[in-house]
Amino acid sequence: MDEKEIKTLTDIGRDFMKCPVWSETLLSDQDKKLPQPELYHEADTDSEVLPLPRNFEDLDLNENLFDLLCSRKSRRVYTEEALSLLELSFLLWSAQGVKGRRGEKYATLRTVPSGGARHGFECYVEVTRVTGLEPGIYHYLAGSHALELRNRQTEEERLQALAGQKWAARAPAILYFTAVPYRFEWRYTIHAHRIALVDLGHVGENLYLAAEALKLGTCGIGAFTQSHCDKVLKVDGDNEFTVYLQPVGRVKDREESEEAAFYSFVTEEGL
Ligand SMILES: Cc1cc2nc3c(=O)[nH]c(=O)nc-3n(C[C@H](O)[C@H](O)[C@H](O)COP(=O)(O)O)c2cc1C
Repeated sequence: MDEKEIKTLTDIGRDFMKCPVWSETLLSDQDKKLPQPELYHEADTDSEVLPLPRNFEDLDLNENLFDLLCSRKSRRVYTEEALSLLELSFLLWSAQGVKGRRGEKYATLRTVPSGGARHGFECYVEVTRVTGLEPGIYHYLAGSHALELRNRQTEEERLQALAGQKWAARAPAILYFTAVPYRFEWRYTIHAHRIALVDLGHVGENLYLAAEALKLGTCGIGAFTQSHCDKVLKVDGDNEFTVYLQPVGRVKDREESEEAAFYSFVTEEGL
């Protein structure tokens, strides 16, 4: 990519973050009374649905918010141990779980906030080591708090999707978030994309805090290869595409020094 292309794309990126005017003359599809898109994807008709456990009271959660905020950090070194199904269930519920509804079918109310309660994401989880689940890529069915098997990928494909980030490929579970843009465009038109990415930040932070409360580790991933992820998640890359990933795994104190190695360049380069 040459300097000119980089500059053009950078300017587009800056414009996308701005909100110069909130015009009342800009009619959304919602204003035009066009049909509302689905609130979440339903299961494929021919897939087996696996209900997730909800007995979260059985988890040994650290419920002290001050502790969690102090200890939260990105953790990239995971042990070989599996996650339990209940832990995975809690993580998925923390990130996208449905707690209620606004009206019959107007909006879902979830564990995360969302501009206009549009909740324009789907969540998929690649399972390598979760007790009671076959390895594979599952779709999280937010409406019923269940999983459906979606696909499988090889280790090589996983590394391509993760843009070569080997530490992430070793996690027992990797959450993939896709955007379903018309869900937020229907209400927010030209402002939709900026608002959606702000929404996604809340999703990521909920996951960080939920993982911390379970004494697990997670780390946001913004550097991934979208086309590879889309292919393996079986989404079309236009009406639905990958926007964010978070691996989750068990961590041990002794891994702290390995974790520090990720930033050894800071000392080495005197930064
Ligand atoms: C949106 C987002 C994307 C990130 N992408 C990556 C990534 O691709 N690779 C990585 O190693 N860390 C990634 N991180 C982790 C950041 O590097 C980390 O949050 C930052 O260094 C601050 O450290 P802390 O989370 O421990 O406070 C990402 C974090 C966020 C929130």
